[in-house]
Amino acid sequence: MRTQVGIVGAGPAGLLLSHLLHLRGIDSVVLEARSREYVEQRVRAGVLEQGTVDVLNEAGVGARMSAEGLPHHGIELRYGGAGHRIPFERLVPGRAITVYGQQEVVKDLIARRLADGGKILFDVPDVVPHSLEADPYLTFQGERLDCDVIAGCDGFHGVCRPSIPDGVLSIFQRDYPFAWLGILAQVPPSAEELIYSRGDRGFALHSMRSPEISRFYLQVPPDASLDDWPDERIWAELRARLETVPGFALTEGPIISRDLSAMRSFVAEPMRYGRLYLAGDAAHIVPPTGAKGLNLAVADVRVLTEALAGLYATGSTELLDAYSATCLKRVWRAQHFSWWMTTLLHTFDTDDPYGRRLQTSHLDYVTSSEAAATTLAENYVGLPFDFGAPRD
Ligand code: APR
Ligand code: PHB
Repeated sequence: MRTQVGIVGAGPAGLLLSHLLHLRGIDSVVLEARSREYVEQRVRAGVLEQGTVDVLNEAGVGARMSAEGLPHHGIELRYGGAGHRIPFERLVPGRAITVYGQQEVVKDLIARRLADGGKILFDVPDVVPHSLEADPYLTFQGERLDCDVIAGCDGFHGVCRPSIPDGVLSIFQRDYPFAWLGILAQVPPSAEELIYSRGDRGFALHSMRSPEISRFYLQVPPDASLDDWPDERIWAELRARLETVPGFALTEGPIISRDLSAMRSFVAEPMRYGRLYLAGDAAHIVPPTGAKGLNLAVADVRVLTEALAGLYATGSTELLDAYSATCLKRVWRAQHFSWWMTTLLHTFDTDDPYGRRLQTSHLDYVTSSEAAATTLAENYVGLPFDFGAPRD
């Protein structure tokens, strides 16, 4: 088999890349370790930046997102017995977020690729990348797929990044001393907007998927097990961490899924080796507090698509050569924002009273200063794709 771009991984990065390339007349094959059902059902985050929404709409895959996604124009920071709204409509006019589950984006992209005759091979767990410096190819299940370039879109635990020889990549990493327990519940959201709640018992987040389905997260110890968290304990802890302002009551209902995620910051540089280009979680991870993971994956593949379109139109590798540096500017902005939101809102074992006071002071600043609130708002809704030029 031969294709122009061999894509490993059918998450948001690999699927969107395959679709965007198709729109430019570039052929690709996607190889995915898991089944279609598995990738379509996997519950992940659900906040789309304005720029992500624009990319999906412009690519013609935004119809269901536009119909079913929930536009949000603010978030609440809750601490010290009060809620404080960060109003996007005033701080970053014209920019908002859309709450729409990542697996819904994945379903929409798979449906569109298959309708367009795209090749996605599911249940291929044994992909191996070869010959990354020149004439790259992928082997799997006794087959060989020759390609001009390989796109490593296979997530943090994929095979592409580890196939780069030792000593090439620089790794930048921070692990946080807690995890997030996430649930989906068959119950209407208890508030119209997301609530990021900081308190002495730990962080909690109120989010949603639809007018009928709520999504919640709890900060839990890093070694927590789902067995330690029966439904009643989850609801009791959510109540204790979220019912901290007058008049707010959590609506409870059946829990329909639960998951645990480690909290990690990670960047591999450069995002390229020879003819292998890494995109999305394969190259970088952020803790979910800033809601940036999916959005960074979309930003990467947007850059990679332009670079590959440049290669096939003119033979020039200029944009491809700049791919890693171009992406890393945005990656590091999101790294900082995600780390900042995480340290602002969680409790740490190492907290001393001084550190706790600093955290409160920082929250007071963000919720009272227009400049500080704007910093949060413009990062949260997503900086423009071309940000980074110095201001006069
Ligand atoms: N071979 C083929 N496919 C693989 C392999 C492999 N060896 N290893 C992993 N995969 C697949 C996974 O099964 C998954 O479907 O690669 C895909 C990677 O998808 P994601 O993990 O969703 O990563 P990405 O597309 O970069 O999207 C980033 O995912 O983790 C979230 O918060 C993150 O929202 C962000 C988004
Ligand atoms: C989610 O709805 O899954 C969600 C929302 C905001 C975050 C992380 C996850 O910061």
